[in-house]
Amino acid sequence: MTTQSYQEAKARVEELRSLIRYHDYRYYVLDQPEISDAEYDALMRELRQLEEAHPELVTPDSPTQRVGGQPVEAFGIVEHRVPLLSLGNAFSIDELRAWYGRVCRLLGTDDFAMVVEPKIDGLAVALVYEDGRFVQGATRGDGYRGENITQNIRTIRSVPLTLNDGYPEQFEVRGEVYLSKAAFERINQERAEHGLPLFANPRNCAAGSVRQLDPKVTARRPLDIWIYGLGWIDGGTVPATHWETLEWFKRLGFKVNPHVRRFTDLDEVARYCQEWAERREDLEYEIDGMVVKVDDYEHQRRLGFAGREPRWAIAFKFPPTEATTKLLEIGVNVGRTGTLNPYARLEPVQVGGVTVSSAALHNEDDIHRKDIRIGDTVIVRRAGDVIPEVVGPVVSKRTGREQVFRMPDRCPVCGTPAVRKPGEAMSYCPNKACPAQIFRQVVHFASRDAMDIRGLGEAVADALLRAGLIRDVGDIYALTAEQVAGLERMGKKSAENLINAIERSKHRPFPNVLFALGIRHVGQEVARLLAEHFGSIDALAAAPEEEIAAVPGVGPVIAASVRAYFTDEDNLRVIEKLRQAGVRLALDRREQAAGGPLAGLTFVLTGSLARFTRGQAEELLERHGAKAGSNVTRKTDYLVVGEDPGSKLDRARELGVPTLNEEEFLKLLRDRGVRV
Ligand code: IVH
Repeated sequence: MTTQSYQEAKARVEELRSLIRYHDYRYYVLDQPEISDAEYDALMRELRQLEEAHPELVTPDSPTQRVGGQPVEAFGIVEHRVPLLSLGNAFSIDELRAWYGRVCRLLGTDDFAMVVEPKIDGLAVALVYEDGRFVQGATRGDGYRGENITQNIRTIRSVPLTLNDGYPEQFEVRGEVYLSKAAFERINQERAEHGLPLFANPRNCAAGSVRQLDPKVTARRPLDIWIYGLGWIDGGTVPATHWETLEWFKRLGFKVNPHVRRFTDLDEVARYCQEWAERREDLEYEIDGMVVKVDDYEHQRRLGFAGREPRWAIAFKFPPTEATTKLLEIGVNVGRTGTLNPYARLEPVQVGGVTVSSAALHNEDDIHRKDIRIGDTVIVRRAGDVIPEVVGPVVSKRTGREQVFRMPDRCPVCGTPAVRKPGEAMSYCPNKACPAQIFRQVVHFASRDAMDIRGLGEAVADALLRAGLIRDVGDIYALTAEQVAGLERMGKKSAENLINAIERSKHRPFPNVLFALGIRHVGQEVARLLAEHFGSIDALAAAPEEEIAAVPGVGPVIAASVRAYFTDEDNLRVIEKLRQAGVRLALDRREQAAGGPLAGLTFVLTGSLARFTRGQAEELLERHGAKAGSNVTRKTDYLVVGEDPGSKLDRARELGVPTLNEEEFLKLLRDRGVRV
C-alpha cells in the first residue's frame, strides 16, 4: 500500500467510501444487508489504513469519522435559521375533526390530502447538508437555538454522511432520534449491573445519549433516526408536497418511517390513527401519537401558524401510558410456586383510560435498584394489556418521610421462614402446604390456557379450599355437585355447571395439562415443547435431566425444575389422582403426529426392509407425523426402496420423486430426531 501513489490512494478512498456508504444504507436504512459483517469490516479497515497513510484525505463525512474522534469540549450553540416549532394536540377523534373543520374553512375546500405519520417519542434534531455532505446536527433546544451535536449525530449509523444524487446545494432536514425499546432495556440492564442510575424511558435514554460530551459513548448506544420533514432549502427546488418530499428523502438515502400514509378522507385518517393507538405496542420503538399534516406546501403556507404551532398539522395523542401517583404500601403476594412477589398499593390513578390501584414491583433487588420507597410519588406505566408497573420514584417530590422496603423474612401467609437461593432474585416460601401457594395453584390449574374450568375462579377456589373440599388440584375431580352446591353463594345450577366444566376439562390436550400442573419455569410454550418431545407424562417423569435439558428451547434451569417436580412424592400423588380421573396425560396419536418431526412429509415404501416390517415402518412414520402412502404421486416426498422393489420405483423415477435406500431412510429419521 505504501507504494500506492497519492492519486491511486485518493481514488481508492473514494471508492471505499462509496461502497461503505452503499452498504450502510442497505444495512441501516433498508435493513437489507448484502455483504457479511466480516466483508464490511474489511472495507472499513482498508479505508482506515489508507486514511492513516494519507491524513490529508480524511474528510469529516468519511465513514471512519462516525465513531467519534476527539471529544467535544462543550456543545456550541446553533441558531436555527427556521425555528423548530411544536404541534398542537388532539386528544380525541372529536378534537381531530375540529382541527380538520378549521382547516377546511380556512382553505375554503375539503379537497386536499393529508399525510399521517407515527409521532416518534424521541428527540427532535435538525441536520444540515452542504453539497450532499452532512455538516451540522443540532438539537431543537428552545426551538430557536439548539445545541451543536454534530459529532454525536455522526455516530448514528442511519444518518447518511453523504447523500445520493439529487440534493440541493444546502438544506436542512428534520427528524427524530430515538432508541428502540430493546436497546433501552439493554442499556438499563448494563447500568444496573454497574450500579448506575437507570433511565426512565427510551426517550430520556436517547436524549442522554445524544447529549454525551464524549461521542464515543454516543457511538456505543444504538441510536436511530426517522426523518420527517424539511427545514429549509438553498439552491434547489422544493417539492410541491410533503409526501413528495418524503419520497425524495428516501431517494437521497434518508430513513423515512414506513408507516407514513396519505389520505384524502378524514374518516380514513381517523381510522389510521385509531389503528395505531391499538397497535403501538407492535413497534419496536415508542410512539406517543400520530402526526397529521396537510400535504400541499401551498396549503401549508396559506394556513400558516398560530403562535408557535402550525395550523397545517396536529398531533393526535394516544392516551398516556404513564402517570404519577403515591405509593401507599408495598405488599407481598405468594405465587403458586411459592415466590414472594412484592407489589405496590397505589393511590388510584388513571393510566391510559384505566384506573390503576396496584402495580407490579418484580423483586426486592429491583425495588432497591430503582430506589423505590414507601410513601414515594412514583411513575406508573401501563403498556397494552400487561400488568401496570412502577417505573421509578419522582425523587424531587420526597419529603424525607419515605421508608425503605425490606422483604419480609417469613412467608406473609403461613409464616414459614423465606429462603432466597444464591444467584436468584426471588425469595420463596418453601412450605409446599402453604395455603397461598395451593390457592394460586388451583386458580392457575383452572385458568383458560390451562384446564379451562369455567366457574373455578379465585372466589370459588378459595371457598373450596376453606371448606376442606380440596387439598390439591387432584381433588377437583372428586368433587360432587352436592358438595359444591353447599358452598356459600353457590346455587344448584352453578354447581352443576362447575361439575360439567370439570368433566369437560378431562379432554384438555396434554400440553395444556402439563402447563396446568404449574411446574416452575414451565410456561405454555415449554409445556408444548416437552409434551411434543416426550409424548406422555410417564416418559417425561422418567427422563433423565440431561435429556430434558437437550430438548430445543429447554435448558438446564427448566430441566432441573422439571426433575425436581417429578421427584416430589406429593406431586406424583396429584398426578395419580388426575390419571384416575381420566385426565389426558399423553398426546393422542393425532396430536402427536401433527407436531411430530416428520409432519408434512409423505413416504411410500416399496420392497422389503431389513429393520422393520412394512407395517412397523408405516406405524413409525405415522407416529411421528408423516403420511405413509400406498401409491407414488407428485405429492410423494420420498420413496423408500427395500430389497426387490416393485413398479413404484419406476413410477418414482418417472415423476422425479427422490428415493431413499434403507440406510438413507434411517439417516433421515435420525437427523430429524426420530429414535431408530
Ligand atoms: S412534525 C411543525 N412529525 O413532535 C411540525 N414531529 O410536538 C413539526 N415528532 O418537536 C414537527 N414525530 O420532536 C413531526 N412525524 C413527526 C414527528 C414529530 C415526532 C416530534 C418532534 C416535534 C414534536 C412536536
